[in-house]
Amino acid sequence: MKGKGKGSCAVINIGSLATPLGESPSAGIAMNSLYRCKNACIVAKDGIIAYAGPASAEEGQLALKKAQAEGTVLIDAGNRACVPGFIDSHTHFIFAGYRADEFFWRAGGLPYMEIHQRGGGIRKSMEATRSATLHNLIEAGKKRLDTMLALGVTTVEGKSGYGMDLETELRQLTAMRELSRMAAVEILPTFLGPHSIPPEFESRPSDYIDFVIREVLPKVAADKLAVFADIFCEKGVFEIEDSRRYLRAAQNAGFKLKLHADEIVRIGGAGLAAELGAVSASHLLKASPEDLQAMVQKAVIATCLPLTAFSLREPYADARGMIDRGLAVALASDLNPGSCYSQSIPLIFAIAVLYLKMTFEETLTALTLNGAAALGLAASHGSLEAGKTADIVILDAPEPEHLSYNIGMNLVHTVIKNGELAYQQRTTA
Ligand code: NIG
Ligand code: FE
Repeated sequence: MKGKGKGSCAVINIGSLATPLGESPSAGIAMNSLYRCKNACIVAKDGIIAYAGPASAEEGQLALKKAQAEGTVLIDAGNRACVPGFIDSHTHFIFAGYRADEFFWRAGGLPYMEIHQRGGGIRKSMEATRSATLHNLIEAGKKRLDTMLALGVTTVEGKSGYGMDLETELRQLTAMRELSRMAAVEILPTFLGPHSIPPEFESRPSDYIDFVIREVLPKVAADKLAVFADIFCEKGVFEIEDSRRYLRAAQNAGFKLKLHADEIVRIGGAGLAAELGAVSASHLLKASPEDLQAMVQKAVIATCLPLTAFSLREPYADARGMIDRGLAVALASDLNPGSCYSQSIPLIFAIAVLYLKMTFEETLTALTLNGAAALGLAASHGSLEAGKTADIVILDAPEPEHLSYNIGMNLVHTVIKNGELAYQQRTTA
């Protein structure tokens, strides 16, 4: 695993560059406005992009000359396509144990929530995670981060939520803090204490929320272990009143808000996200048109998780309708051991175009600039332009569209994080 740093480099011979632009989320039809450039170059200094654009332009030539004079590392893109590093803005990548058995039960027709209610599902991962040491969690997380990097992910959000007790929740968040120090991929941690109702609070969700507010949130806040607070707002788990109470407490403690909303049953989670000014609401398979409209008004990012719908064989979220009504849509993997054991960015690119009816441009924006916005990072991340963090992916393809077209294949050739070479595809001679 590469170390963290802020580097300088010049990427030359970019055959085809595509990127959204701007420092705020791209909403509605504007998600189609990519900046495109043939024969481009990018110059990065101390982790920040100084120039991205045509190599032949005077400004580009000057930036390149300056970089060369300073002895900056040259990276030859070999006429390949180039896009911003991907931002996976919703994952549960810190967990122990697996639930392969459930995958096959679901394949045989058993619903996800039935497994959950029978004490399987999240609770099974909770047991394994409670038994895992900090070292175990770091090792497992490190492996997943290496895979992400090879798939072009330069920034990831990771949630706690497989502890549901003070000790294990803190251990999951501490694992992310330790990994942040050593991994090239940048990690934004989210506290998801209310992920399910732990056995100690069986059938008493409100008591568990009281416990989280009283005993866990203050500790997470004091140790600055998370940026966001999230909740599984769902029928039979945490319903609207409990969710509102928890999220308000989290907001007062300084957390930005995220929600798992309206995934299985429509209970108004999307509306609650708007009411509280959450940064993002995820899943939204069953969100009502009124609640989605409220999200437009409050500029809440709509995070669609198509790999989860695929894995659960649920109808996909109406991303097309969301964009058409003016929402900023982000796409993310939802990597977790249960509902979606996948971190396949390549498959997201294909499913978004084929089944979510998104254009390629919208898909790229959803996995870069809008992913950044879902993490409060749109001002600094998610696009290739001067002033932004130099997180760059070179593709082993002539055009960025191959990300969707070459279904499920990893086209990532080179990844640059903070201006430093972080990953290069192995070639067999
Ligand atoms: O986003 N729905 C709740 N949380 C996760 C699933 C976690 C699990 O099944 O372990 C999700 O799908
Ligand atoms: Fe999730």
